[in-house]
Amino acid sequence: MIRSPNIWDTPDVYELENRASDRAGVIDSTIDALHPLAGADLLDLGCGTGFHLPRLAARGARVVGVEPHLPLVHRARGRPGAARPASAGVVAGDAEALPLADDSVDVVHARWAYFFGAGCEPGLAEVARVLRPGGTAFVVDNDVSRSTFGTWFRRSYPAYDPVAVQRFWDRQGYTTERLTIAWTFDRRDDLEAVVRIELPPGPADEVLAAHDGLTVDYAVALRWKRS
Ligand SMILES: C[S@@+](CC[C@H](N)C(=O)[O-])C[C@H]1O[C@@H](n2cnc3c(N)ncnc32)[C@H](O)[C@@H]1O
Repeated sequence: MIRSPNIWDTPDVYELENRASDRAGVIDSTIDALHPLAGADLLDLGCGTGFHLPRLAARGARVVGVEPHLPLVHRARGRPGAARPASAGVVAGDAEALPLADDSVDVVHARWAYFFGAGCEPGLAEVARVLRPGGTAFVVDNDVSRSTFGTWFRRSYPAYDPVAVQRFWDRQGYTTERLTIAWTFDRRDDLEAVVRIELPPGPADEVLAAHDGLTVDYAVALRWKRS
């Protein structure tokens, strides 16, 4: 399990981040164009507090969430709409050993969870096992090579090597769509709280001092592969 301090330690602030992220639905509409969700059996892998479960179900998918961190499993189960009759609910489990049968889902959706480059090969093998022929795996990842958030990220985590990460996904046979989304907050306090769970304290202070307003442009690498 990969420790995720942002959502494990401060799930309420992470909720603000999810609400601010991509209000225009750029990621969702790109996924739908590549694999329509209506009628699909979908696994939301590393579902966290289940923010995306009712949203994915509302697009017509039968959704199961898998999440290894038990406090988040409980939160996800309690989220309104996450346990609709058509959905299979939320199951405790890891990407490396998915609690699902072979050939049991049409779409895997992993958003900012576990699949960060080298080291996630066991999870990729499990994704390939549970996907039906013709199914699609989607990994929503940061593209730190551009955008305001990408610049903040590179400055905060200089050891992160985006070229090596891209090479990893190319070798795995994944296609990368480069998208630009935005964080759009209703209150400056919310933006500041989210920046402080995503960046270390020093860089967070610096970027907040230099950045006005309620929005941040944010580059995304949407990685996908058909089975
Ligand atoms: C940044 S959160 C994103 C949560 C959710 N996808 C969302 O967009 O709101 C990353 C999630 O990945 C989960 N995670 C960590 N290691 C994992 C693993 N080995 N398999 C599946 N999920 C994992 C964490 O517990 C956490 O819930």
